[in-house]
Amino acid sequence: MSAIVGDIMYVLLSCAISLDGYLDDATEKRLVLSNAADLDRVDAERAGVDAILVGANTIRRDDPRLSVRSPARRAAREAAGKPATPLKVILSSREPPAGAAFRADGDALVTHGPLDAVVRELADRGVERLMVEGGGRVLTGFLTAGLADELQLVIAPFFVGDSTAPRFVHDGRFPRTGGDRAVLASVATIGNVVLHRYLLSEPAIDRHWLTEAIELSHQCPPSTTAFSVGAVIVDPAGEVLATGYSRETDDLVHAEEAALAKLAADDPRLRTATMYSSLEPCDRRKSRPASCSRLIRAAGIPRVVFALREPDTFVVGEGAEDLTAAGIATVEYPELGDAVREANRLQLGLP
Ligand SMILES: NC(=O)c1ccc[n+]([C@@H]2O[C@H](COP(=O)([O-])OP(=O)(O)OC[C@H]3O[C@@H](n4cnc5c(N)ncnc54)[C@H](OP(=O)(O)O)[C@@H]3O)[C@@H](O)[C@H]2O)c1
Ligand SMILES: [Zn+2]
Repeated sequence: MSAIVGDIMYVLLSCAISLDGYLDDATEKRLVLSNAADLDRVDAERAGVDAILVGANTIRRDDPRLSVRSPARRAAREAAGKPATPLKVILSSREPPAGAAFRADGDALVTHGPLDAVVRELADRGVERLMVEGGGRVLTGFLTAGLADELQLVIAPFFVGDSTAPRFVHDGRFPRTGGDRAVLASVATIGNVVLHRYLLSEPAIDRHWLTEAIELSHQCPPSTTAFSVGAVIVDPAGEVLATGYSRETDDLVHAEEAALAKLAADDPRLRTATMYSSLEPCDRRKSRPASCSRLIRAAGIPRVVFALREPDTFVVGEGAEDLTAAGIATVEYPELGDAVREANRLQLGLP
């Protein structure tokens, strides 16, 4: 099995909850969970998307504007040929009131139905990056349908303490419960709240580890005769088993080889792990008898993810074909190829 992952819609979920997991309290008044600095961060996220989506109850209870507030961000969007504020998508089977605040500016779309159909409808309208801002029913729907790439979860330091208040999530079957977990990409303290960024989908998780592998490749001692590559071996729960980079331990060692050398050959965790390598693993090399694809096959690693096919600067490589023929799933993210070329400017003769 071999796959090249290209452009698909990126779905970002964003919300703030209390310590006991509520999105709001049960009173009529809107509960403010986050602070000014965090609201400004959310405004910046909004400015970076093509559409913002909320459920009908959020409109009914909060009457949000759903607009980019910052004049500078609105101007920057317009300078880039976009509308000042992203498309507002309201999930509702009924038409929201004519006086609703979201109608104040920008384009709006009221729609409903199965979420995968809604996502397709938005993709057809050119939405590449979607921000889902709540409430709990809608967030649960995106999570349980496996449609979320990322969750930005802010936790405010107080309790609501009322089980009749709206919850962040409802019952359901969530992907990555049990075995596979989300990847915690970052944690940040913003004044009195904490922001967690979780990666949920396979492409989002793959891009995260591949980016780590590319960053590692910048640690390679310089060379004009071999590429600079980084490799990260990760288990299904998102634990890093080993990392390596080209020429890490001697002048000839390859990144994948350096990472594998840090684990016992019979380590059982290798049989469910993914090898992330910035460059396609080699299947022939002048320097040593065992190619990286052979080492990966011998280790029993079932899945290999890389960004760039090996340029035929030094040898003509067919590592991906070799791995695929051995039944190893290979996935390629060409969108990250430029970052790999950047780490190999010298080798590729780039200006
Ligand atoms: N803290 C935060 O970050 C945050 C963010 C947003 C909201 N909130 C809070 O969340 C609360 C509202 O959450 P909620 O769970 O009650 O409601 P919600 O998720 O905002 O809205 C759910 C409603 O959306 C409509 N809908 C249409 N198509 C749907 C679909 N495919 N899937 C799901 N819903 C669809 C349905 O209403 P119809 O019957 O009209 O179709 C459904 O009842 C409010 O109290 C609000 O303050 C908090
Ligand atoms: Zn190699």
